[in-house]
Amino acid sequence: MQIDRRAFFATLGTTAAIDAMPSEALADALEHHMMETLDEQAATNDLKVRRGAGSLFGGPTPSGGTTEIVKLKTMPEQPTLIDFFKYRFAPATHVLQSATDALKKGEKEELILACLLHDVVLNLIKVDHGWWGAQLLEPYVSAKVSWGIRHHQALRFFPDSSVGYEYPELYNRIFGKDYEPAPYIKRTYEYARNHKWYMEARMITVHDLYAFDPNMKVSLDPFIDIIGRHFKQPKEGLGYDNSPVAHMWRSLIFPDMPL
Ligand SMILES: [Fe+2]
Ligand SMILES: [Fe+2]
Repeated sequence: MQIDRRAFFATLGTTAAIDAMPSEALADALEHHMMETLDEQAATNDLKVRRGAGSLFGGPTPSGGTTEIVKLKTMPEQPTLIDFFKYRFAPATHVLQSATDALKKGEKEELILACLLHDVVLNLIKVDHGWWGAQLLEPYVSAKVSWGIRHHQALRFFPDSSVGYEYPELYNRIFGKDYEPAPYIKRTYEYARNHKWYMEARMITVHDLYAFDPNMKVSLDPFIDIIGRHFKQPKEGLGYDNSPVAHMWRSLIFPDMPL
């Protein structure tokens, strides 16, 4: 946290008054000032954007910071999934690391694709991203892939020792230590747990854990052929194929359009 020293000392009065303060009182004052500043920063963030807003719309990052709104490049007229990775999802580090982990561990191509796509919708919207993500991709991937993406959201809160999946420490920081998933998330978990495709979603959460490494270099190159084999790219371009979700891709193309 950044502390503006001058603003802090200004709250304490004259230099003489500060010099006369015992160091404990000074420490208390500093703590108080930091708490107030934190509250102010949180309040301003809340005013700027809802926490469920996607990154392209200024939504917050998991660490709490707000994404800087950058000027976006114009997309090609018939954009492919690869164009979206290049122009709208970049750097896409988390999903690339997740897919790289799946690839290295010898997973099937469809699961690698599911890992590659499991969180791309966070650029559009963050709340209920499993459901939104599955919907965005449904016309273009197999039913198994979109099923896995839809359910990974609920499964990540529930450990499964059979595949070495523990509750992520990161979630204690994001959701708080005593976080209890909402009843609809619990119901979705129970449903998915007993489904024949359970492992499709579960393995997304497993490879998710190995995808938060700030130093690992990743690239889309190893996945181009897998995309070619398992993603039904519409010839009109994503956003222009009249599919029931074309408008969602267009929202990613034109996030600055006022209406
Ligand atoms: Fe996710
Ligand atoms: Fe993820």
